[in-house]
Order: sequence, then C-alpha cells, then structure tokens
Amino acid sequence: MADAIRSVTGRRVWDSRGLPTVEAEITTASGARGRAIAPSGASTGRREAIELRDGTSVLAGKDVAHAVEIVGTHIAAALAGLDVADQVGVDGVLDSLDDDPQRGTIGGNSTTAVSLAVLHAAAASRGIPAWRLLDPEPAFIPRPQIQILGGGAHAAHRTTVQDFMVMPLSATSIGDGLLHVAEVYQAVGSVLAARGPRRGVADEGGYWPEVSGTEDALDVIIAGIEAAGFVPGLDIGISLDVAASQFHEAGGYRIGDRILPTEEWIDELVRICANYPIVTLEDPADEDDAAGMRRAVSGVGAKTVVVGDDYLVTSADRIRRAAAEGAVTAVLIKVNQVGTVTGAANAVRAARENDLGVIVSARSGESEDTSVAHLATGWGADIVKVGSITRGERTAKWNELIRIDEELGGVSLAPLVASAVTSASIV
Ligand code: PGA
Ligand code: ZN
Repeated sequence: MADAIRSVTGRRVWDSRGLPTVEAEITTASGARGRAIAPSGASTGRREAIELRDGTSVLAGKDVAHAVEIVGTHIAAALAGLDVADQVGVDGVLDSLDDDPQRGTIGGNSTTAVSLAVLHAAAASRGIPAWRLLDPEPAFIPRPQIQILGGGAHAAHRTTVQDFMVMPLSATSIGDGLLHVAEVYQAVGSVLAARGPRRGVADEGGYWPEVSGTEDALDVIIAGIEAAGFVPGLDIGISLDVAASQFHEAGGYRIGDRILPTEEWIDELVRICANYPIVTLEDPADEDDAAGMRRAVSGVGAKTVVVGDDYLVTSADRIRRAAAEGAVTAVLIKVNQVGTVTGAANAVRAARENDLGVIVSARSGESEDTSVAHLATGWGADIVKVGSITRGERTAKWNELIRIDEELGGVSLAPLVASAVTSASIV
C-alpha cells in the first residue's frame, strides 16, 4: 500500500571539515521517518552536480541557509503526497525542479540529502534497512578500500597523488578485512614515527606524512604492511587515487617545477604500477584527457583496475562512452556527483552492462551519515571507499558494514575486481 510523503524538512548540520551541510528529513503518512546528510567533495569534477552555497559573508560564502530553505519550501511542496516507495518518481520530480542539468538552481546538496532521505524513509516504511530495500539478500559485503596516507587537495598538496589506500586481499570477511587494515594503519604510524614527527591528518583521516614523493609514500606503506606481518600484493593491495585533474595544466601535468606531457606522466604511473602491488588506480589522467586514461588502461594491463571518478562524475552517459573508448575498467559512484539515488543507480547499471567494476564512495567532507554502506551493499558494489579507519565520520560507515554483515549472518567479501589480485600477488 502506498505510503505518502507527509513532510520534508531541511536543516543545517556540520561536516567533518567544520563546514555546514544540508540534512533532509522525510516523514510519511504511516509515521515512517528517513533522514540523510549531503556529503561534500574538495577535489570535485567540473561536471558534478553543483553544491549550492550562499556566497554571503558567513563562513566565507560556504553557508547553506538557502539550500536548507529550498528543501523545506520548494522541494517539500513538490514532494508532498508522493508515494515514498517510488524513488524513481520522486527523483524525477527533483530533476524537474531545476532547468540546469547541473542543479545550480536548487542545489545538488539539497537533492542528494532529500533523495537519500526518501530511500531511508521508504525502508523505514517497510520496517527494513535501506540496503535491504535495494537487495533483500546481498551475497557479499563490498571489499573495503581504506586510506592510509592523504595528500593532494586533502593535505595542502604535500604529495601529488591525493589518496594512498590499502585493500585487504586475503581476508574473506569485513571483520577480518578491517582488522588487517587496522594492523597496517598502526604499523605505518610506527614507520612514520621512526622517520620523524608526523605532520598532520588529511581530510579523510589518513596520515599526512613528510615524504619525498609517490614512491617514498609507497615504500612507507609497504614497510607498514610487512611490519604488520602481511605480504604486499597477496594479503594487502595498494590503491591510488591520483586525482590528476588537480595538477593538470595546459600542456600536461605539473610535477614539482616540471610539466610532463600526458604520455610521460602516464608512463611514469604505469612504471609505478609495475613496481608496486597497485590493484586500483583512480583518475590517473585529467577529466578531459581521454587519451591519458586509455594509455593508463592499456599500460597497466589486467594487473591494475583503472577507476574513473572525476572522469565519469557518476554519469551513466559518460560511463557508457568511457567503456566504449576503453578509458576505464571500473567506475566510482558518488550520489552527490549526480544528485539523486536514481541517477547513481543508473550509473551502476551502466557500469555493469559494460562489465566495469563498481566502487561506491564517500566524499572528503563527510558526516555520521551511513548511506554509503547501505548503497554499496544493496547495489552489489565490488569495493567501498570511505576514507581512513580513523575518525567518526569514517568509522560510522565501516561499523555499519559490520552490522549489515551480522544481519546477513556473515557473508564473504565481494570477489576481487578483474584479475588485479592474481597478478598482483606475483609482485
Ligand atoms: P573528494 O575526494 O570527495 O574531495 O572529491 C574523494 C575522491 O576524489 O575520491
Ligand atoms: Zn577520486
């Protein structure tokens, strides 16, 4: 029986960078309630849904009072009476409220919070968690991809590469996977402490280390993996998010005081992938550099999965095009890049129809919201990426995955994407 949306409320809440963000809360005729908070990126793609910020003198323009007001007025009026279970219909109405495909008028932050809140309210209306609404009996928990070192836009550009992560490979459950990664995280901390004072914590909770470059950072991680008693490439793989759009300029990629042309930059990354157990490589090239992405895919071969984040911006159309071009082998999915649950679900479908891997990801600005854990499990993602294993906004998601696994009676981690591991384990 239909359960009509009765109220939609917006409120200003706070994210992990101490910046305001939009929370939406939905109630239904039956008394069900759903709530969600929009996350926020720092290294955003140019084609992402636009985050509506006030641009006033408050918090250097970053307040979201207007977006919050839109949720409680325009959006609330448009959604009142719709069936909360009709996610596609509700998201279609959200689409119709903005002439700008990038949601510049009502804000991708407003629609993301509302669309996710609808999902949670629909689940509550049926007395089940959101992941179960998407898949009543998921076979797997997605494999965690966890930040150890942060750089790029998340740590004052101390390293060129934005994100140095690890993935448990030999662990078969989320419980063991997180345990293995925690051992590595602690061991890397000791390795860094032995090298000198630690310099800080990056936006997603990883160490912000004093390193001389990408390979020095990788050596620190390898040392940590080994000190924790694991075999790099067999027990623990490494994932890089290069976020290359951040240092792309006319003519190529800025590395220190040099500008490397695409071929040289990608060949450098391919060499690094050959020398280290890199299982996934995200955004190796700029968001408009299809030739660079293709060169990365063919250069790394089957050993390393090439992931498109800024390159794809959770757009089903861009995913289909990238698949046809051979520019990626996996897609990163972020609901707030596209602005609705339905838009992101379409992107997941486009990825699967083209045999691409799926990584569901949080943002660098996050909150205690656990939607990502529900979506990743319910959509059958291969991998889930939410930052480090420290800090509440990150552990909220990891801990939710532990609870989901328990509710499923203990299931395996998703199989490894493509042949990454078989070959990585040779390293
Ligand atoms: P962002 O970083 O949320 O700042 O975009 C995460 C990522 O690039 O994957
Ligand atoms: Zn990224």
